[in-house]
Amino acid sequence: MVRADSPIFFLNNSTQKGKTPVHKLMFIFAFAVATLFACKEEVKKTETPAPKALPPPPPPAAAKAEPVIGEYTLTFFQSPSLESFIQEGAKLPEELVNLGRMLYYEARLSRAHDISCNTCHELANFGVDGKALSAGHKGQLGDRSSPTVYNSSIQFVQFWDGRAKTVEEQALGPITNPVEMAMPEDGKLVIATLASMPEYVEAFKKAFPGEANPISMDNVGKAIGAFERRLITPTRFHKFLAGDQTALTEEEQRGLETFHQVGCTSCHGGPGVGGTSFQKLGALKPWPELHDKGLGAITQKEEDDYKFKAPILLNIAKTAPYGHDGKMATLEEAVRMMAEYQLDKKVTEEEVKYIVSFLNALTGEIPTDFIKMPQLPKSTAKTPKPSKK
Ligand code: HEC
Ligand code: HEC
Repeated sequence: MVRADSPIFFLNNSTQKGKTPVHKLMFIFAFAVATLFACKEEVKKTETPAPKALPPPPPPAAAKAEPVIGEYTLTFFQSPSLESFIQEGAKLPEELVNLGRMLYYEARLSRAHDISCNTCHELANFGVDGKALSAGHKGQLGDRSSPTVYNSSIQFVQFWDGRAKTVEEQALGPITNPVEMAMPEDGKLVIATLASMPEYVEAFKKAFPGEANPISMDNVGKAIGAFERRLITPTRFHKFLAGDQTALTEEEQRGLETFHQVGCTSCHGGPGVGGTSFQKLGALKPWPELHDKGLGAITQKEEDDYKFKAPILLNIAKTAPYGHDGKMATLEEAVRMMAEYQLDKKVTEEEVKYIVSFLNALTGEIPTDFIKMPQLPKSTAKTPKPSKK
């Protein structure tokens, strides 16, 4: 149960004690929101904000009132709210989403007809394969760990290095990536494969009404992206943010407080508890054995070297191992590494325990019915044959 003196009663408490009048708090609140938006803009423009570019610590007046989890923090995780993404997703046409679901499970989008999106991002397994590195075409390993596709669409960019902006754009990457699904770059084989099955021809027509050539690579991306935009998993934390103070246990609330106090919120904020900025890995202390240059390899700018997207942390308890290379095995290890190298802090065992209990509260529910694998069309005589080469 929540105690009356629990930090989340910040507003009530402080007014009772006459420390900070409500109107003043409202002002701070508005200021915080404005600052947050200003920062977001900045992130988009430069794409490489320093760690400090994220919302500043609570303004002095709030700091005086002491509790860490006040309205400020709550707003910080809700601008915009996860609910707003759910509402956007709900507006997408069913025909488009249904086609996206078929394509998501479609192994014939791979050269050997043996790998679909679901191979590396298992929907029944919180959108991951649970491996440090995933095996693609002919068992080849990529050099990065597969992130979850759940809630991925709400992030400011896709991939660890942000090289795709949207899930629609991202979806085309793996299909023609030689170590993933390995289809030829020009997309012709993908289109010939889909066009060989009357059910797909029909499904594309319905999903893209009025288009002269509905079966195109762009539309494959749009359909898969639409399906992914429905893969949003609200958690108990979001219930808590919406005002249900019983949604988190006291330990989890303390975990949230510790998460904020230690400084994790300087990089992991927004409705996904991350996915809003690039950050240098090893921000305050060189990250051990880091070879991947991340964003720097894309932009070829030295100041971007070793920057990665600070990822969303929703369902994090279910998506081990952690990090772009899958080298952190457990949540405890990830928390300690983050504190040490991103914040130059040694956290106590107790702090780790509290933070991990908060992270455990970020697990949502798998939408079992929505993700059911649909009946896929049978290949026809015209369907191109798989190739093991
Ligand atoms: C062989 C394994 C593999 C297959 C197949 C695969 N992916 Fe991925 N996926 C990955 C890996 C690894 C990454 C991270 C790569 C990186 O960041 O450079 C990734 C990244 C992503 C991301 C970005 C998530 C984020 O948080 O940045 C999305 C979304 C995604 N994949 C969706 C898909 C879709 C849709 C398909 C099917 C068209 C697909 N993937 C097929 C392994 C795979
Ligand atoms: C200076 C920015 C920064 C700070 C502060 C920070 N993180 Fe991170 N976090 C990142 C980045 C960047 C990554 C991606 C790591 C990678 O690419 O290997 C990450 C990754 C993670 C992961 C692994 C996510 C995954 O999907 O594999 C967890 C868990 C995590 N952070 C938790 C925390 C916690 C807990 C704190 C506070 C103790 C914290 N972070 C502080 C930037 C930060």
